Amino acid sequence: MFTKISAEEFYNNHAAKYDYIVKTPNAQVQYLNEAVKIFQQRNYHQGSVLDIGCGTGLLSELLQGDFEYTGIDISVNMLGYATQRGYKTIHKPIEKALVEIDSHSYDFVFCLGSLYFVEDAQTAIEHIYRIARKTILISLTEATDEYIKNHVIPVYDHSKMVIKNAMEDYFILGWTPPNTGIPIRTRMIYIEQKN
Ligand SMILES: C[S@@+](CC[C@H](N)C(=O)[O-])C[C@H]1O[C@@H](n2cnc3c(N)ncnc32)[C@H](O)[C@@H]1O
Repeated sequence: MFTKISAEEFYNNHAAKYDYIVKTPNAQVQYLNEAVKIFQQRNYHQGSVLDIGCGTGLLSELLQGDFEYTGIDISVNMLGYATQRGYKTIHKPIEKALVEIDSHSYDFVFCLGSLYFVEDAQTAIEHIYRIARKTILISLTEATDEYIKNHVIPVYDHSKMVIKNAMEDYFILGWTPPNTGIPIRTRMIYIEQKN
């Protein structure tokens, strides 16, 4: 057995290497590009983006267009890089931050690679529906029992949860942790809000 550490401590320690790790070919990080592909097929080019669990703000490097980014993250060191990319930042856990955000206050809400750190993903998703004006893009990491046991941060598997009225909902090979070499599946979900 080993002692798990919090997501905050882990990402504070790894912030300086995060982008490098995501971009190394053997990590095979696909979920970010897949999210960008789904979004850009809809021809959105401007508006406000809420990036939940934004990390270093890599999303803003990938999306083409004139977007204003606000990022929520628990790690101050990850947010430091997001700030350098032009993000406004909210340094709070997702669970606390979402409750405080007004309804219909962002055009586009993204939540990529971060909900598996949140125990109550259902409540978080209900807030995401409340906050988004136009579209929602969520990726849900499939955390197998083996992965949950061995990962250094506590994680939860939400990949089977019921999500209604999604326009896109499918699994891809999302990424491969370099330490195990075992690909992790990611469920990609795209929702358009009804006005
Ligand atoms: C795997 S990274 C994903 C970052 C970014 N979305 C991306 O795809 O590159 C997960 C991020 O979620 C953040 N995080 C983890 N648990 C969190 C929580 N409970 N509240 C807010 N942020 C959290 C971490 O600090 C980290 O920056």
